[in-house]
Amino acid sequence: SPPAIIAPSILSSDFGALGKACSDTIERGADWLHVDIMDGHFVPNMTFGAPVVTKIRPHVSKPTSAYGRGTFDCHMMIAEPKRWVREFQKAGCDLYCFHYEAAINSTAAESPSEDEPTKTNPKELVRYIHSLGMQAGIAIKPSTKVDVLWDILASDIKEEIPDMVLVMTVEPGFGGQSFMESELPKVTALREKYPDLHIEVDGGLSEKTIDQAADAGANVIVAGSAVFGANDPAEVIANLREAVEK
Ligand code: DX5
Ligand code: ZN
Repeated sequence: SPPAIIAPSILSSDFGALGKACSDTIERGADWLHVDIMDGHFVPNMTFGAPVVTKIRPHVSKPTSAYGRGTFDCHMMIAEPKRWVREFQKAGCDLYCFHYEAAINSTAAESPSEDEPTKTNPKELVRYIHSLGMQAGIAIKPSTKVDVLWDILASDIKEEIPDMVLVMTVEPGFGGQSFMESELPKVTALREKYPDLHIEVDGGLSEKTIDQAADAGANVIVAGSAVFGANDPAEVIANLREAVEK
């Protein structure tokens, strides 16, 4: 499988000093920063949008290669994922990960200049994200079956294939929730079919739950409260990495 990637979620960091939280986290050994974008519609919580990403992006060096250190992994918990692709690309997002459920249920206009509601085809959205030079990810909530992804992953158009799948291991919306072991069979099934796919897990990951996620085949590990709530975040990051690599 692909290399271990540790992606602390800055949702649990000090929002009053977000730029420094980002640079500190990379200095402490993180590979990526996981940036949770919530709109109060797709999830019952709000964080921040592209203007904040624009301001924090210069605090961390851009990755020198795809999936490299410093990747801004934007987890878009928003009802209109197509609408914000260009804004986030301009803000410095490297990996735009949208929710499958949001794409297929999208009912509002897809860009601020359009007013006709249209559904968003996940494959077309992946292609659009790629056309703007970003990596593309598709996230699924606990209530969504992994089977919805097979057709997308098997596309014969390379530009339509996502670079990463995010399997949520909590209901999206809040940090600090308990890990849902029940979601791991999705990871196992994905890893069996796709040995090289980046598979991210998000929610409740810690030194206690990492072994199960790693055994199932996850290689991109998001951790918010486990990293930012620790006395020694660098140690937690190193331990998570070791668990995935062993
Ligand atoms: C939840 C977010 C997560 C969150 C994880 O909706 O997507 O990224 O920050 O937090 P922990 O690691 O504390 O469960
Ligand atoms: Zn997240």
